[in-house]
Amino acid sequence: HYLILNLMHIAKQKVNGKTYFYLRKSVREKGKVISKSVAYLGKSFDEAKKRSKEIIKNLESKKVPMEKKLKKKNISIEELANFCKEKGFVFNSGDLYGGLAGFWDYGPLGTELKNNIKKEWWNFHVQTREDIVGIDGSIITHPKIWEASGHVENFIDIAVICKKCKNKFKVDESELKNAICDKCGSKDLENKGKFIPMFETKVGPIEDDSLKAYLRPETAQLIFANFKNIIKTNRLKLPFGIAQIGKSFRNEIAPRNFIFRSREFEQMEIEYFIDGEKKENCPFEIPDIEVLVYSSPMQLKNKSPEKMKIKKALEKKIIKLPWHAYWLGTELKWFFSLVTNKDNFRIRQHLPDEKSHYATDTWDIEYNFPFGWKELEGIADRGKYDLTQHEKNSKKELKYFDEDKKEKITPEVISEPSLGVERTFLVFLLDAYSKNEKDENVLTLPLKLAPIKAAIFPIIKKEQFEKIAEDIFKNLKKEFNVSYDKSGSIGRRYARNDEIGTPFCITVDDESLKKEDITIRDRNTKKQKRIKIKNLKNTLRELINEDKKFEDL
Ligand code: GAP
Repeated sequence: HYLILNLMHIAKQKVNGKTYFYLRKSVREKGKVISKSVAYLGKSFDEAKKRSKEIIKNLESKKVPMEKKLKKKNISIEELANFCKEKGFVFNSGDLYGGLAGFWDYGPLGTELKNNIKKEWWNFHVQTREDIVGIDGSIITHPKIWEASGHVENFIDIAVICKKCKNKFKVDESELKNAICDKCGSKDLENKGKFIPMFETKVGPIEDDSLKAYLRPETAQLIFANFKNIIKTNRLKLPFGIAQIGKSFRNEIAPRNFIFRSREFEQMEIEYFIDGEKKENCPFEIPDIEVLVYSSPMQLKNKSPEKMKIKKALEKKIIKLPWHAYWLGTELKWFFSLVTNKDNFRIRQHLPDEKSHYATDTWDIEYNFPFGWKELEGIADRGKYDLTQHEKNSKKELKYFDEDKKEKITPEVISEPSLGVERTFLVFLLDAYSKNEKDENVLTLPLKLAPIKAAIFPIIKKEQFEKIAEDIFKNLKKEFNVSYDKSGSIGRRYARNDEIGTPFCITVDDESLKKEDITIRDRNTKKQKRIKIKNLKNTLRELINEDKKFEDL
């Protein structure tokens, strides 16, 4: 017998002195393993080898991949919060003392996932582009910034408490008369007055010598306040963007839905500047993306969102400007490269009375969260608003010298893609949450986002296996976040890693001792391949960078 693949083998049979070869398969029937013929392979061993390879390849391609057996599981936000707490992704901050509402601490896996999200966002939006540069502004910011930006005057909500169910929430001044409790529907509300959701602090320890400052409620203003410094120190030519990732703070009256609405959160923002006279000229290709489109007129006419290509929405003037279409498409392209279910996304235009004080047109990318369609990312056209405001208030010129026109101009922010890290974190977890055929959790996170890239196991607790596994672990750890696990059965160790989204499990077994190789198991298909230890690091790098697919190993 010549073992070809798992339980398939070539069997040689002599009949009346003549030799015949068959492809046979070992199967378990009524508790016994028996051998069954699959195909006749010919009269010579060489012919048999060739034919068997063709047949196996054919059978393999027809097989339903294991991945299909993974079922997407819809869960409530409370179930997700529990999962995150149990597995060490996210904990309520101040847990030990009863918790502080709206603040969250990230555990080891959550920190890795969050870092990977930010790394991928930065790579896509800054590192691989020639027209966008990044900054990292301070969190505690000069109060004049927020006076100039209009936040002190306009970033105001009205706090109300429902007299019936004691639910606290905020409403817009314009909505106050018709407001109803968003929990029980009661109209009996107590107006607790206006509040500015910016956290205040004091800069300087001596009371009468200190300056009132704000914790920034958006990262964006640090970009505008640094506009002059940035264009002076970088050779930027319009159109260009300035990006930033960092913490923002809002004293939300009702933080809720786990990390969806927090009081401390992180934003990934870009201010994309153009010459306002060239609004129609977008030099970039509009991504070929299809999504549910829900324009302001569709909402006002009580119509349903329509699925269409972004390009089509621009042609039909549903999206007004090519730049808006480009940025909506680009943001969706980033998400679609990292999720499996694109139907949970839609773009919704703000209604005329919904826009922020600085915006002329805003589209949100919304996601179908377990608690309904909600804003994931805002993409606003801020025009010249911020630069003009800061110019007026600081009395310093914030202009760009246009080499072609030979004149100074105030650039316009045609698009401000503004995305919360926490909401993105939720989206990737919700998209990945699945169950296998045994009803066990499998987190099908994309390789680039998975907190742990590979788990390394000795097949059993024995020194000779452990030594090789530990050496592999130490070597891989220099480049990837990997883990080492020697406790419990192999099945248990696989399940533990599937549950937290580890894409590969690497096992050192008997064969490894002889052949200096290991098995690598793919999380989604459960398929295994043997790889030489000396090639492992390179292979893992190729898999994670998507230069190679597991099935092609
Ligand atoms: N610079 C524009 C700006 O800040 P925004 O719509 O207020 O616009 C942008 O916020 C994004 O920041 C939102 O789409 C959301 O992803 C995130 N975000 C805003 N408030 C948040 C909160 N309280 N908790 C978590 N994320 C929040």
